[in-house]
Amino acid sequence: MKKVKSIIAIVVVTFLFTSMITAEKSTGKDIFVNAKCNTCHAIKSQDITSKQADKYPDLSNFGNSGVSEENAIKYLNKEFDINGKKHPVKFKGSEEELKTMVEWLLTLKSE
Ligand code: HEC
Repeated sequence: MKKVKSIIAIVVVTFLFTSMITAEKSTGKDIFVNAKCNTCHAIKSQDITSKQADKYPDLSNFGNSGVSEENAIKYLNKEFDINGKKHPVKFKGSEEELKTMVEWLLTLKSE
């Protein structure tokens, strides 16, 4: 009986750990919102609003911008110019988060 109980305990613990790990993986949209990119940019097609939507570009159509994933990553690290300018802020999260977020931004095609 003791053995059965410990097997059940192991199964339960393994299950809890696996679900914790999968829950931690954020989507590009989560990363965008958590990084507060929406203090400047709205993404209307994703129901993301910005109080300064009139001042900064909406990113709903960024997937059609022709910018490659590599250059978009560099741009958000302030190492590449778009429209002759560097991005005003440098992304503060990890490289992995930046990649996930840029991959998501490049899927956005509203037109
Ligand atoms: C302080 C305001 C501000 C914040 C915060 C901000 N941006 Fe920007 N972003 C800008 C400005 C200004 C531009 C340049 C617009 C231009 O070239 O006319 C820009 C341009 C961009 C572009 C290129 C758009 C295009 O089509 O040319 C992308 C992509 C982008 N930002 C993503 C992000 C992401 C992702 C974040 C969050 C990590 C972020 N921005 C945070 C102000 C901001």
